[in-house]
This record gives sequence, C-alpha cells and structure tokens, in this order.
Amino acid sequence: MRIGKKLSDFLRRPAGRYSMFVFLAGAGLAGIIFSAGFATFIERTNTMEFCTTSCHEMVTFYEEYKETSHYNNRSGVRADCSDCHIPKGSWIQVVIKKAYAGTKDIFAHLIGTIDTPEKLEAKRLELATRVWESMMASDSAECRNCHAMAAMALPLQQPRAKGQHEEAMMEGKTCIECHKGIYHKPVHEEVEEKEEIEFVPPEF
Ligand code: HEC
Ligand code: HEC
Ligand code: HEC
Repeated sequence: MRIGKKLSDFLRRPAGRYSMFVFLAGAGLAGIIFSAGFATFIERTNTMEFCTTSCHEMVTFYEEYKETSHYNNRSGVRADCSDCHIPKGSWIQVVIKKAYAGTKDIFAHLIGTIDTPEKLEAKRLELATRVWESMMASDSAECRNCHAMAAMALPLQQPRAKGQHEEAMMEGKTCIECHKGIYHKPVHEEVEEKEEIEFVPPEF
C-alpha cells in the first residue's frame, strides 16, 4: 500500500511522470532492439553458409547433400540444413534446440572427440541415431513443414510409393521410419546389414 501511495505521489509530479515515460520508452526500445538482434542472430546462424563453413566437419555433410534432390530439383525448392534440423515453432523451442545442438557440436569439437574425418566417420551412426530418435518423437515434424501426406497426389506417385504411403496413412507410420539416409550417407544400411547377417530365415 505504502509503495502504491509513494508511486502515485511520484507520478502526480510532472518530473515523476516524465521519468516514468522515459523509463517505459527505454525499456520498450531495448526490447525491440533485443528481439530484432535476436531474430537476426537466429536467421544468420540458420543459413547454409553458417552451418557448413563455420565448422569444417559439416563440409562433409554439405558435399553429400549437394548430390540429393533436396538440394537441386526441377521445382527449385531447396531444403537447407536448418529446415530439417532446427524445429520451426516458438522462439523458445528454437533456442532450446539450437543451444542443445550447437553446444553439443562445439563441445565435441573442443574436447576433441570429433576433430578428424576418421573420428567423424566413427561417430556417424551414433549421431544419425540421435536424429532418427528426435524425428520419431516429433512425428517427422521437420519433413511435414514442407511435405503433407494429405497433399500427396498418390496416383501420380510411383506404384511402390503409392502403396507404402497408403499403408503409412492407415497405420500412422511416420516419414523417418521409411526414409532414412536419403540426404546423407546411408549409415542406416550399416545397421541393416548387421541385422541381415543375424537374421535366420524361418523354415517352412
Ligand atoms: C524445405 C522443404 C522440405 C523439407 C523440410 C523436406 N523436404 Fe523432402 N522434398 C522437398 C522438395 C522440394 C523435394 C523435391 C521435389 C521435386 O523433385 O521436385 C523433396 C523430395 C523428397 C523425396 C523424393 C526424392 C528423394 O530424394 O527420394 C522424399 C522421399 C522426401 N522429400 C522426403 C522427405 C523427408 C523424409 C523429410 C524429413 C526428414 C523431408 N523430405 C524434408 C522439400 C522438403
Ligand atoms: C511405410 C513406409 C513409408 C512411409 C511411412 C513414408 N514413405 Fe514416402 N515413400 C516410401 C517408398 C517405399 C517410396 C518409393 C521411393 C523409394 O523407393 O524410396 C516413397 C516415396 C516418397 C516420395 C517420392 C514420391 C514419388 O513417387 O516421386 C516422397 C516425396 C515421399 N516418399 C515422402 C514421404 C513423406 C514426406 C512421408 C511422411 C509424411 C513419407 N514419405 C512416409 C515409403 C514410405
Ligand atoms: C531433407 C532433410 C535434411 C536436410 C536438408 C539435411 N539433413 Fe542432416 N539429417 C537428416 C536426417 C533424416 C538425418 C538422420 C540420418 C539419415 O537418415 O541420413 C540427418 C543426419 C545428420 C547428421 C548426423 C550424422 C549422419 O551422418 O547422419 C548431421 C551432422 C547432419 N545431418 C548435418 C546436416 C547438415 C550440415 C546439413 C546441411 C548441409 C543437413 N544435415 C541437411 C535430414 C536432413
């Protein structure tokens, strides 16, 4: 109550009103500058150049990805690294994911676990598994930013795709379950090969 009274006395004086106005205007301006700077930061660090040149390990991924239809296709729509690896959504979600992904990479770099192409190769399956898990958890939200099952013209698709997509819709399967390794080196084949070796066909 006392504070309330003091404040209203303060605001009743012209100087008080004026300083309150300056304070609020200043805070508002700081807010705008901060969010604009922040948006620029997010935008800059989401670009292909940032992803692939600020850290030499990522050059490998860029080279592989340049061969795929997500880089070059007849429609001229390109999926950048951030389209598949940074969730769209609220800034908070973006920051959390970015901070998590970014610090992990820098951390790995600093402590030297992934500082040579050989070490990167050795870690790829593990890194890929992390991406698969995250996309399974998000129901392939990254893919669905551009692709929508409901918008697919199934009759125009290859028979194999059409059949699989009809099945996917009925069974609620998600993109990443079937579409692993189409942008990067197909490391999932290493797992499948292992599984194939272990697989004993049943006798009929
Ligand atoms: C930024 C938009 C965008 C995102 C994100 C995206 N795609 Fe695509 N996708 C495209 C475009 C554009 C094409 C090429 C269309 C064409 O050939 O004209 C394509 C092609 C494909 C193809 C067919 C060609 C091929 O390489 O076999 C598959 C399969 C595919 N996408 C699956 C996925 C999956 C799975 C994800 C999520 C991991 C994903 N896409 C994320 C835009 C996107
Ligand atoms: C049950 C497995 C399965 C699921 C789930 C699935 N796909 Fe496919 N998809 C396929 C198969 C098989 C093909 C045939 C192409 C191939 O051989 O890779 C295909 C082909 C495609 C193509 C190329 C179509 C054409 O004929 O040119 C696109 C694009 C595509 N899928 C996107 C997606 C997206 C996006 C999702 C998630 C919304 C998804 N798929 C979910 C199995 C699946
Ligand atoms: C169209 C979606 C898509 C785009 C574009 C994309 N990625 Fe990926 N990325 C994936 C998926 C899916 C995986 C999981 C492994 C797999 O299935 O290939 C993955 C895996 C990875 C991994 C883990 C290691 C590995 O070998 O799997 C790294 C690192 C990575 N991506 C970096 C990048 C960089 C850098 C770019 C841009 C040059 C990029 N990605 C562009 C979908 C994408």
